[in-house]
Parts: sequence; C-alpha cells; structure tokens
Amino acid sequence: MLLSRIVLLGAAATLVALGAGCRGTTSPVPPVHLNWNMDFQQRYEMQEKNPFFADGRAMRQPVEGTVAREAVLQGDDPWLAADDHLYRGRGPDGRLVDALPKQIPLTPALLERGQARYTIYCAPCHSPAGTGDGVIAGRGLKVQPPSYLSANLRAMPLGYFFDVISHGVRTMQPYGSQVPVEDRWAIAAWVRTLQVSGNVPRSEVPADVLQKNAGGTK
Ligand code: HEC
Repeated sequence: MLLSRIVLLGAAATLVALGAGCRGTTSPVPPVHLNWNMDFQQRYEMQEKNPFFADGRAMRQPVEGTVAREAVLQGDDPWLAADDHLYRGRGPDGRLVDALPKQIPLTPALLERGQARYTIYCAPCHSPAGTGDGVIAGRGLKVQPPSYLSANLRAMPLGYFFDVISHGVRTMQPYGSQVPVEDRWAIAAWVRTLQVSGNVPRSEVPADVLQKNAGGTK
C-alpha cells in the first residue's frame, strides 16, 4: 500500500517536472551548429574594453578631419561649415564666391593641374577650348553642352563652376565623387582661363603670339 503510494507520487512528480520542462523554457546549452562557416569570429562588441589601445576602448575615433560622405553632399557638417568656401564654393552669406579659397593660391602649377584634369574629365564633352563641341557632344548627347565663352557663363562666379563640377547641372552628371576638392578648384580656374583667353580682342594679343600664329588660321 505504502509502496504503491510512493510510486504514484513519484509518477505525478515526474509528470509535473516534464510538463514544466516543456513550457517554453529556453535551454542554456547552445544549439548544435553543424556548419560553422564564419558564424563565430573573434571581435569586439560595441563599447567593449580593449587594453590594446591607450584609452582602453575597442571603438576608435575617426581620423581627424574625417567627414561623412552624406555630410559632404549635403554640406551640413560643422567641420565643413567652418570652411564653406573651400568645400562648397560659398561665402558666409551662402552665396557662390568669385575667388579661389585661401588654401589654393593661383599659380602656374594650379592652372597646369587644372588643364590636365579638365582634359580628362571635361574636354570629351566640352572640347579642349571649352566651346562645347567635344568629340562626345556631337555623337552621344541629346542635350548639347554650352560654350563657356557665352556671355552668361562668363558672368558666373568661380564658385559656380566648382558647384557644377561637384553636383552636376540639369542633365550633366556630378563629378564630386571622382574629382577631389583641390582638383575641382584647379579645373574651375582652368575653365575661367579658357573664358578669358577665348575672348581676348585681337588688339590685346601680344605681338609675338600673333606672329607665331600668323601662318595658321586667323
Ligand atoms: C558626358 C559629357 C560631359 C562631361 C564629361 C562634362 N560635362 Fe559639363 N555639361 C554637359 C552637358 C550636356 C551640359 C548641359 C546640361 C544641360 O543643360 O542639361 C553641361 C553643362 C556644363 C556647364 C554649364 C552650366 C550652365 O549653367 O549652363 C558647365 C559650367 C559645365 N558643364 C562644366 C563642366 C566641367 C568643369 C566638367 C569637367 C569636370 C564637365 N562639365 C564635364 C556635359 C558634360
């Protein structure tokens, strides 16, 4: 009698234990992982300590002067705002500037660099002289590039050309992601050079240049 009671109690306890065990309790033992691939790697969690670095943090600060790509495109980064002229071609009033940034002096080297970059990035459409009839223009473009020598483009501030290179204009694609800031200013300076040299009255051309070109086209 006593024995059967003990057996019954035991069976009941086992059932309760089993029932409890099935009620969605999670197991602390990791599941069997047949194919490991690269699922488990040595790495640091966010905010974790790392004695390797002097400040003991695993998370590193970006290198000084690092700017988020989006910030460059939108111009809303405080570091950029500190130099709107250099990075956006705009003055404190938000308007396009008509001068090179102070970091980029006008030198023969700058113009040479500008000409070289212009030849790579712009001349195929705009032509080496900036007249808008480059080799691609006549063959593959629905909208033709305008001549830089036109009165309205000559009236544009230097920052406008920096802005067009950075962001594109209407159907022209942007070059901000391919051409670094310094080179964009160099190209802008070269575009201005083309505008000036393409509109010099004959009376202002130095005599030796006239002489040199006398045999060629007038
Ligand atoms: C693939 C051809 C192509 C290349 C390369 C190109 N452009 Fe253009 N560009 C155009 C076209 C087309 C237009 C006219 C866009 C329109 O009106 O829709 C234009 C317009 C312009 C304008 C006139 C904007 C205005 O207000 O009318 C400037 C300035 C300019 N480009 C500068 C440049 C410079 C600088 C480069 C080199 C970094 C360059 N472009 C490279 C095709 C090109």
